[in-house]
Amino acid sequence: MSTEAAQSLQAAQSLQAAQSGSSSADLTTALAREVVATAAAAPSIHNTQPWLWHLGSELTLRADLDRQLTVVDPDGRQLLLSCGAALYNASLALRMHGLQPQITLFPDGDDLRTRPLARISIAGRRPPREAECALVAAIPHRHTDRRPFDPRPLSATTIDRLRVAAEEQGAWLTAPTDPNLRLQVAVLLSRADWIEAHNADYQAELAAWSRTAPAPDGIPRSVVVPTDIPRRSEFPLRDLDVDLTAAAGIAPELAGAIERPGILLIGTDADTATDRLRAGQAMQRVLLTATTLGLVTSPMSQAIDMEGLRDQFRAATGGLGHVQMILRVGYPHPDSPPMPATPRRTVADVLRIS
Ligand SMILES: Cc1cc2nc3c(=O)[nH]c(=O)nc-3n(C[C@H](O)[C@H](O)[C@H](O)COP(=O)(O)O)c2cc1C
Repeated sequence: MSTEAAQSLQAAQSLQAAQSGSSSADLTTALAREVVATAAAAPSIHNTQPWLWHLGSELTLRADLDRQLTVVDPDGRQLLLSCGAALYNASLALRMHGLQPQITLFPDGDDLRTRPLARISIAGRRPPREAECALVAAIPHRHTDRRPFDPRPLSATTIDRLRVAAEEQGAWLTAPTDPNLRLQVAVLLSRADWIEAHNADYQAELAAWSRTAPAPDGIPRSVVVPTDIPRRSEFPLRDLDVDLTAAAGIAPELAGAIERPGILLIGTDADTATDRLRAGQAMQRVLLTATTLGLVTSPMSQAIDMEGLRDQFRAATGGLGHVQMILRVGYPHPDSPPMPATPRRTVADVLRIS
């Protein structure tokens, strides 16, 4: 166990009250602020952070519809994935206090426009497990890394750990190694890229969330890989270098290298709003598990932006179910410095208390 994980475990154990049983009174304002701050570190499409929290007798999560991407995400799928990731972080934060969260997804019906996405209450007390402490310790170290990875492949044991992480949140995960399936994934990603590259509305929306000056949201240039040296990757990444000011550094020996990264498909059997939220929880658990294993990750969601391409994914994966997210996963190059964190809105911006 890392020093950080050990410290988290110790802190959590000292905080954990001896008595069992609890009530919503455990959800104090101070705790809710801490939980919401931890939730905010979650990834979100274009760093839109499309969540709003409300603390009343329970803690409630709603979609911030002003932050939905109407071009790339008209039905809110990626908004729900992002909010699901935040929800998973929130549950870990409560676990660190020895609290057992009871999370009800869409407690009042599944219309994300008018209804809460989730309600969290406290069901009881239980000391956090070592694995949960390790996942919490990974939260500040998980950053989307779009740079080329070290060529070292993922082992079967590693993939198994990631698969279990997804399954424990009610999703499935597969790591395509079959050349035909990898080819199909690559073709679908390229096709999505081409369609979006020639869509002026898509480009305008992306530009609106690209940041050249400090801002509490959106994608700063420091995390975008410049496109002046063409990538020779088996899978094209979403092109975020909208104004050719991208500034993420690449280890010199990897610039222009052939890339065959590990990829993971995360999916659900059905495709309701609840499934999408659950897929976001699973995605975050997979991303944090990957971080604890020394891996770096980047979502590649351009092929799931489009309904038609998602159907093709479904066909390509042999009826596994609905692909909700594609992740690029690998080991960082030893000479690559850690990716910088992207900014977040403040807790006061996203938490209402009544
Ligand atoms: C649903 C979802 C879809 C995403 N799609 C992409 C993508 O297609 N390409 C990409 O480079 N990053 C993608 N990201 C990563 C976000 O851009 C990133 O999470 C955000 O900028 C915050 O940065 P961080 O992950 O380093 O905290 C996605 C994230 C989420 C949650």
